[in-house]
Amino acid sequence: MSAVIATRALVKRFGRLRAVDGIDLDVRAGDVYGFLGANGSGKTTTVRMLLGLVLPTSGEVELLGERMPRAGRRVLPRVGALIESPAHYGHLSGAENLKLLDAAGPGGSWRTRGRRVAEVLEQVGLGGVGRRPVTAYSLGMRQRLGLAGALLRRPDLLVLDEPTNGLDPQGIAEIRELLLELHRGGTTVFLSSHLLAEVEQLCSRVGVLDRGRLVLQDDLATLTAPTGATVVRTPEPDRVRALLDARVIAVDGDRLVVRGPDPAAVNALLVGAGIPVTALALDRPSLEEVVLAAAATSADRVEAVR
Ligand SMILES: Nc1ncnc2c1ncn2[C@@H]1O[C@H](COP(=O)(O)OP(=O)(O)OP(=O)(O)O)[C@@H](O)[C@H]1O
Ligand SMILES: [Mg+2]
Repeated sequence: MSAVIATRALVKRFGRLRAVDGIDLDVRAGDVYGFLGANGSGKTTTVRMLLGLVLPTSGEVELLGERMPRAGRRVLPRVGALIESPAHYGHLSGAENLKLLDAAGPGGSWRTRGRRVAEVLEQVGLGGVGRRPVTAYSLGMRQRLGLAGALLRRPDLLVLDEPTNGLDPQGIAEIRELLLELHRGGTTVFLSSHLLAEVEQLCSRVGVLDRGRLVLQDDLATLTAPTGATVVRTPEPDRVRALLDARVIAVDGDRLVVRGPDPAAVNALLVGAGIPVTALALDRPSLEEVVLAAAATSADRVEAVR
């Protein structure tokens, strides 16, 4: 499948700081790609390079199969973008801001402008307030307006830098639903975030940035695949230990990890011995565990090089 975003050995230096340090991004059609990284790890700098807003120090960027920034005029009309806090004219309404934005870019006919603006405002949940001046908007409403701007041209690819910044849990859930709906409609979504849980709930593919380096990139399902063990919860952990002995890998209160990828077989054994079982599941690493392990491995490598 063709890459929707591909970078090769992409580097951005600010003086002595390598803010982005040789990354190979691989985002495919149909992905909801989560670009995870702590504050200052280089997410926004990467997004700016993808869109041709800053030039890389070295390395290459391809967007929708074409070299950036060279192909920007052809490619960018097919890309909706939201970077950090979007700027708007405060004295104008949300709808007026979007009409200006639409008029400034290529492709959108003025005949359909009013309708398209009303549609995207509705989509992001600003249908009722689109006429109020933007100075009266909360942070979350401004963020939604920025997202509406990104949707105006019905893009094939959405590139969103921390799209849920400033939103409350309800707002975050609404944006998640909206992005999933767009994804079902065929849009590829690339979003940066420093929130593990957000990425874990939303994304099918994950890249993890750690101090400018891409320490992990894979499908979420692969990263959190079953480990081959079974998790058992029981009010009588000591009896499980006595019965299964060496098969018990770990115990934490009422939770035991038992070697073997077949919860039903473990259940049969325990119930056969009269031990009550309150929960059974395949053991999987959480995304947090995977990310911490990758960051630790990468830090070891850096130490070794020094
Ligand atoms: N124009 C600039 N000049 C100098 N240094 C910069 C510039 N832009 C970014 N940096 C530095 O590059 C590093 C990466 O910054 P970047 O904004 O890309 O991180 P981020 O992952 O988006 O962080 P956050 O989660 O806080 O948004 C930081 O150390 C930042 O201080
Ligand atoms: Mg940032």
